[in-house]
Amino acid sequence: MRTVYVNGDYVPEYQARVSVFDRGFLFADGVYEVTSVLGGKLLDFNGHAARLERSLGELGMSSPLSRDELLAIHRELTRLNEIDEGLVYLQITRGAADRDFAYPEGSSPTVVLFTQKKQLADNPIAERGMSVLTIPDQRWGRRDIKTVQLLYASMGKMMAKAAGADDAWMVEDGQITEGTSNNAYIVKDGKIVTRQLGTEILHGITRAAVLRFAREAQMEVEERPFTVAEAQTADEAFITSASSFVMPVVRIDNVTLGDGAPGRVSRRLREIYLDESLRAAI
Ligand code: PDD
Repeated sequence: MRTVYVNGDYVPEYQARVSVFDRGFLFADGVYEVTSVLGGKLLDFNGHAARLERSLGELGMSSPLSRDELLAIHRELTRLNEIDEGLVYLQITRGAADRDFAYPEGSSPTVVLFTQKKQLADNPIAERGMSVLTIPDQRWGRRDIKTVQLLYASMGKMMAKAAGADDAWMVEDGQITEGTSNNAYIVKDGKIVTRQLGTEILHGITRAAVLRFAREAQMEVEERPFTVAEAQTADEAFITSASSFVMPVVRIDNVTLGDGAPGRVSRRLREIYLDESLRAAI
């Protein structure tokens, strides 16, 4: 039985309650973060906390909890639920109010956190590499805000599943934006290419760390859009996210990359990311 955090209380999950008038439920008027746990410690907590503050700010909400309070709750839930490896999910919505499109004045935010045990480091897909299906990017235009309106991402995962692929990469104006729940990269002649930050993609916390480690390791990085055709003729491809770290991609639609096995750069970056993030985990 899991313990979850709801608005100041740690309660068994069956006792957790949120109002049917909650704007997260009615309007997807809320933001979230997913932070991974390895060896009982949080990876990149400060990055996630900073992005949370930014997402809230973009929606005109202020954080109901300080960063220290948030850290304490993440740690307490990890301890109570004995999470050695897994995820902490955090969601903050604008709270409950009479249904109205305009933001209500004076609603108190709803804050929910829960944990999920999950094997992250030893993932068999890291060994075989994943396949992705390309689909049109039909999401809204503010993908830099980490809102809970994730329906198109779910639809994309289902399209991938129906096609026998592991995930989908989304395409807009002929260029890949990102994966349904991850950032997308290709590697050509040793150079790592990934789309630049903007409103078209989520500013991945894992992306920031991986690009920093890559540059520190003297790897060349170029932040620009790339096409499906360019990706299909790349030497390697991979994705990053808090829950997958660095995951090699070996197939894009019906095209196999290289010899069909995870590439050298992708494997090396996964190793470096795991080592460095574990070292800095809190
Ligand atoms: N997804 N792009 C999208 C659309 C995402 O949903 C995510 C994260 C990322 C990667 O961001 P980060 O490295 O900060 O996890 C990129 C999380 C893991 C999720 O929804 O479960």
